[in-house]
This record gives sequence, structure tokens and C-alpha cells, in this order.
Amino acid sequence: MRLGVLGIGRIGTFHARTLSAHPDVDDIVLFDLETDRANALADTLGAVAAESVASLLAQVDGVVIAASTSAHAALLEQAAHAGLPVFCEKPVTLDLASTRHLRQLVAERDVLVQVGFQRRFDVGYRAARAHVQRGLLGRVYTVRMAGHDPAPPHEAYLPTSGGIFRDLHIHDFDILRWVTGQEIEEVYMQGAVLVDDMFTRHDDVDTVVGTLRCSEGALGVLTGGRHNPLGYDIRMELLGSLDSVAVGWDARTPLHSLEPHMPPAPTEAYRGFLDRFDPAYQAELHHFVQVVAGHAASPCTMDDAEQALLVALACDRSRVERRAVAIAELQLQPS
Ligand SMILES: NC(=O)c1ccc[n+]([C@@H]2O[C@H](COP(=O)([O-])OP(=O)(O)OC[C@H]3O[C@@H](n4cnc5c(N)ncnc54)[C@H](O)[C@@H]3O)[C@@H](O)[C@H]2O)c1
Repeated sequence: MRLGVLGIGRIGTFHARTLSAHPDVDDIVLFDLETDRANALADTLGAVAAESVASLLAQVDGVVIAASTSAHAALLEQAAHAGLPVFCEKPVTLDLASTRHLRQLVAERDVLVQVGFQRRFDVGYRAARAHVQRGLLGRVYTVRMAGHDPAPPHEAYLPTSGGIFRDLHIHDFDILRWVTGQEIEEVYMQGAVLVDDMFTRHDDVDTVVGTLRCSEGALGVLTGGRHNPLGYDIRMELLGSLDSVAVGWDARTPLHSLEPHMPPAPTEAYRGFLDRFDPAYQAELHHFVQVVAGHAASPCTMDDAEQALLVALACDRSRVERRAVAIAELQLQPS
């Protein structure tokens, strides 16, 4: 099998390495608008660097879209017209109209799309979902989520990112739906710029807190941000009528207790997303190889992308208008 990777930045480089080492992948073909990046990685991996998106699409069996978010819609559309299975990084697009258009297009053309919600492949989150599904948690009362980056991205990333909810917390919205099996119905978010004034320049925030109300009554609470001096902190704690469990709480969690006789802050705390989710990123691409081979269905579809985007857009509105926003408000919006 021959697979293409579009966009050879932070995550595209990682995905290209994973695919290049995969036993079922014979060749990979790379393309980036910055041709030096694709050429350099192609040399390192013994891969092919394509001259254009069209030439890449013409020579592969499936494609991974890992370019900047603002480029996803056009690339996904081209791949769909080529009839290729697509792995697309999150968020698929930043607005409802284009996400809905693409969802319809891929449905009409019967094109399989797997969205890059890698937490669904993380061992801890999978165990949490199984715990809920097997009834071991009982009725879900509350879900506490933390999503804290160690350091802000470079400023050039911000204008194309969609802001903190669509860029970073879209993972929390997807995984809350997936673990609890409940839809998010209403959100109330607050944001602040406490880390770096560059976020103000891009009408974004770097620190957030908020609440989420789910369809079967569970209440979620989220804290997040772009700076954590101890490392990359991604956690979910579920409290139900029968149990209380945590995901992302281990010897490397960037957090320490001030109670006596407890361990000090970890010296090997998670440094970033590639460190924390390395096995999950690999597992999601192994799954995509199975999708391309026709042996598996997509576990994260365009419907999931649209649901998570709706929540992120509601969070943006809630933050700006400083009020609770029902997801239905956005669902009713014409696209
Ligand atoms: N799943 C995750 O946890 C995760 C983590 C990081 C990034 N991402 C997502 O992956 C995407 C890329 O993020 P990144 O951090 O690697 O960004 P990046 O800025 O490091 O890299 C983006 C690359 O895309 C290239 N590019 C832009 N437009 C292109 C086009 N039309 N065709 C080909 N290449 C193009 C740029 O030249 C750059 O090399 C974003 O959508 C981001 O949200 C997901």
C-alpha cells in the first residue's frame, strides 16, 4: 500500500515516521507547501516527495491530511474527488458550513474519513469508556477535565488555529461524548489572557474554565490553557453512583500534592502531546491502514467532527457573550 502525507509540520512529520515504519505500508509520498520540509524528510525516510497535491493524490491509496487547519477543507475536497480514504487531523474545518459541506460530499462519494481524535486510541480513555459501558461507574454524575499545554504554540500558528476551543479543547469535547456516550447540550465558558499578550492580538485566550451539561444529566467541568510550568496535563476524572476513576493520572502527571509523605513533582512529567499520546497516535494510524485496506470502518467520522465543532463554536460564543449557550442554538443555524 502507498500512502500520502500532506503537511510536514510538527504532527505531519510524526505521522510520516509512523507510516514509514508500518509493515503494511510499502511507500509513503510527502508534500508540503514548504518544499524543503518534505524533501528533507523524504531523504531521511527514503520516501518520495511529490511536486504538488494533485501529483501526490494520483499515486497513493489513501492520504493523511496534517497541514495547517486552514488548508484542510480544500485538501479534503480534492482527496474526496479523487475517491481516496482520508485521515484528517482535527479540527477538520473551523466553520459549520464547510464541515457540513464536506460531510455531505464524502457521504455522496462514499469516501471514508477518519478524524484525528487520537484520545479514542489512548489506553486510559478506552478503559474509562469500557467502565461506563459496563455499568461499573453507575450513573455518571460529574466529569472533570483538564487540558493544559506546557507552552504556547508559535504566534504564526494562532491565526490559522481557530482559537483555543476549536484547536485544543475540541479533543475534550470529542472524548467527553465518546467516554460517556452522552451528547453535550449546553456550555458556559470563561476565558482570560494570563500567559502571553499575543493571544489578545489574535482575539484568543490562553486560560479557560467552564461547564458542560450532557444529555443524560452528567455535568462536565473543564479547565485548560496554554501554559503549565510542570508539563502537559491532560486528565479526565469521572465520578458516578458506583465508582470514581481518573484518566491521565500516573507517575508522569505534571501535578504534585502538598500533603505530607506524598511524592514530589515528577522529574519526568509529560512534556507535550507527542510524548503523552505517542502510542495513541501510532494506534490511530495503524487503524487507518486497516481502513485503507478495507478491513475496518472509521472510528471517528465526519459526524463526530461536526458534533465536536458545534460544541467548540458554542464555547466561543459563550465566552464572548458571557452566557450559557445551548448547542441547539448553533444546530439551528443555516449552513
Ligand atoms: N491530534 C493532535 O493531537 C494534533 C496535534 C498537533 C496538531 N494537530 C493538528 O494538525 C494540523 C497541523 O498542526 P501542526 O502543529 O503540525 O502545524 P505546523 O504549523 O507545525 O505544520 C503545518 C504544515 O502544513 C503545511 N501546509 C500548510 N498549508 C498546506 C497545504 N495547502 N498543502 C500542504 N502543506 C501545507 C505548512 O507548510 C506546515 O509545514 C493542525 O490542523 C492541528 O490542529 C493535531
